[in-house]
Amino acid sequence: MRGFGFAAAVMIVAGAVGAGAQAPVVLTGADVRPATSLNGDWHVIPDPYQTGLRDFHGHELTRGWFANEKAKPGDTGPIDYDFSKAATIKVPGDWNTQRPEFFWYEGLMWYERDFEYTAKAGDRVFLHVGAANYRSLFWVNGKKVCEHEGGFTAFNCEVTGALKAGGNFVVAAVDNTRHEDAVPTTQTDWWNYGGLTRAVSLIEVPERFIDQYDVHLSRTEPGVIEGWVHVAGGKAGDKVEVAIAELHAIGEGVLDEQGRAKFLTVSSNLERWSPEHPKLYRVAIQAGADTVTDQIGFRTIEVKGSEILLNGKPVFLRGVSVHAEAPYRTGRANSDKDAETLLGWAKELGCNFVRLAHYPHDETMLRAADRMGLMVWSENPVYWAVQFDKPEVYAKAERQLQEEIGTSRNHAAIVLWSMANETPINDARTKFITGLATRARELDPTRLITAALLVRAEGTTKIVDDPLGAALDVIGTNEYIGWYEQHPETADKTDWRIAYDKPLIMSEFGADAKAGLHGGDNDRWTEEYQANVYRHQLGMLNRIGQLRGMSPWILMDFRSPRRPLAGVQDEFNRKGLISDQGEKKKAFGVLQEAYTKGTVGKAE
Ligand code: GCU
Repeated sequence: MRGFGFAAAVMIVAGAVGAGAQAPVVLTGADVRPATSLNGDWHVIPDPYQTGLRDFHGHELTRGWFANEKAKPGDTGPIDYDFSKAATIKVPGDWNTQRPEFFWYEGLMWYERDFEYTAKAGDRVFLHVGAANYRSLFWVNGKKVCEHEGGFTAFNCEVTGALKAGGNFVVAAVDNTRHEDAVPTTQTDWWNYGGLTRAVSLIEVPERFIDQYDVHLSRTEPGVIEGWVHVAGGKAGDKVEVAIAELHAIGEGVLDEQGRAKFLTVSSNLERWSPEHPKLYRVAIQAGADTVTDQIGFRTIEVKGSEILLNGKPVFLRGVSVHAEAPYRTGRANSDKDAETLLGWAKELGCNFVRLAHYPHDETMLRAADRMGLMVWSENPVYWAVQFDKPEVYAKAERQLQEEIGTSRNHAAIVLWSMANETPINDARTKFITGLATRARELDPTRLITAALLVRAEGTTKIVDDPLGAALDVIGTNEYIGWYEQHPETADKTDWRIAYDKPLIMSEFGADAKAGLHGGDNDRWTEEYQANVYRHQLGMLNRIGQLRGMSPWILMDFRSPRRPLAGVQDEFNRKGLISDQGEKKKAFGVLQEAYTKGTVGKAE
C-alpha cells in the first residue's frame, strides 16, 4: 500500500467500511425540488491522522471507526470519541472560518448529525450535497452510501435502503487535503476552504424519476422551445410533458431505450431573457409520477466571426470576476444573501456579465444571476498546472464538468462554459482541455466554450496564439500590465495580436490595493495606484478591435495563503474593487464610469 495517497486509501477503505454504495448521481434542478433540509448544526471531529479510517499500524479499518454504529451500550473496548460531546459547526459552511482552531486546518474532518425521517412507500430518497471540498464519504445509520471527489459540484447519494422510520444519523468524512493528482491541483490562489460548504438535504423521488433535463430556445427555429428529459428507470414508450403555462405551451415526448425523450413546443409571444429584461418562466417537467417545476429564461447565445450574439444581436460583456468569497464574514459564499450582495455590487458597477471563477459556483449564485440579469462565465477548476498527462486526472476533470453542466444547464444566465484557467502550453495540456471542450459541446451544444489563456509578448506587442484557442468559441486571456509587469503607462503603447478571428474577452487584469491606503498614482498597494492601472488598461482595451468583453480581477478581496504581506494583504488577495468589508476603492469608480457611460467596449 506504500505511496497511496489519502484518496486511494479512503477509496479502498470506503469499500472496506461498507462496500456496495452506489456512485453519486447528478440531479438537474435539485435545488427546486421539495426537500428535507439537513442544514444547521453538525458535530465535527478533526482527524488529521485519519484514525477513523485506519488502525495504529496504518492498516485500513474493516469497520470505519466513526462510520458505524455510534458507541453501543455495553461495548467493552474504549471508544475514543463521542459525536454528541463534540463541537458543532454550521452546514452549509466551510470549517476554516467557523472556529479559529480550524482556520488553517487541512485534513480529514468528521461530521455527524441526527435526524428524524418518516419514510414514504415507494419513494426513493437521495442525500443531496451542494458541495463537499474536496474528497468525501457518507454513511447513513452506519451504512456507507457514497463517496465523491471534487470540491465545487453538487452530487446526490441514494440512501433509500439505509434510512429507517424515526431516528437516523448521518456521518460524513470530508478531507480538503490538496493532492498533485486532484482537480485543482496543489497550487491555487484561493483559500482551500474545507467541508460541507453548500446545502445538504434529503430529496424524495418516485421509483422512476427525472434525473436530468434540458429546456432551451432553439438557435435556428424562432419561437421553438426544445430539449429533452431523462428518466432514471424510465421505460421505452413512457411519456413526458414539458408545460409553460404562461405561454400556453406544452411539449410532449416519448422515452427511447435509453430513458430519454426529446420534445419541442412553439410560442409566438415568448419574451426572451436578457440582462435588460431577465424574464423567467415557470416550467413544469412531468414524467409519470414525477414533476419538477423550474424557473427558466429563454435566450440564444452564439458567435458570428468575432461577434458574440445574444438573441441574435452583438453584445459586449461588461463584466467583473467573482470568487465565491462571502462578503463581510469571508469564507465560502453559500446563501441567497451572499449572492445578492456580490451580484448587487456587480450590477452597481454597471455589469451585464460576471466571470464566476475558478470553479462552479453555488446554485444560489446562478439563480440570482438569472433573476438579476447577469450573463455568467462558469468555470471548471482545471487551474494552472494540473497533471495533464494522467488519464485518471482527465477522468476527474470530465466528471466535474459533467456534474457542473448536468446540474446547472438550464440557467439562462450561463452563456459560457470555461474549460480552464492559465494552464501551461504543452501538447498533453492542449489534448486534455480540447477533450473537455469536445465533451462540453456533446453535453450542451447551446452555449459557448472558452478558457482563460496565458499571453506571450514580443516587445510591446501582446500575442494570443495559444493552440488551445482552436478548440474555443471565445478566447479568454489574462494579463497584468502595470502590476506583475512593467508600469501602468506601458499599456498606452501596448498592441495586441490575436491569432484567431474569434471574440476576445480580457478575462483578467488588475492590481492590488488595500482599502483606505492612499498615496500617489505610482505608489503600489494604494487605491490611487490601482485606479491608475485601470485607467491605462481601459485605454488599451479600447484599442483591441475584437474585444467583446472583460472581467477585471476582481470584484472583492478574497483570502489566499499566497498573499502574506503583513499590514497590506494579511492573507488576502487585495485586487478587489471592493474590500471584503464592503469598502469601495477608487478603481471601482473608474470602472463604473467606463461601464455606465459606455466609454469601453462597443455599446450594443
Ligand atoms: C491569475 C489567476 C488568479 C489570481 C490572479 C492574481 O491570473 O488566474 O486566480 O488570483 O492571477 O495573481 O491575483
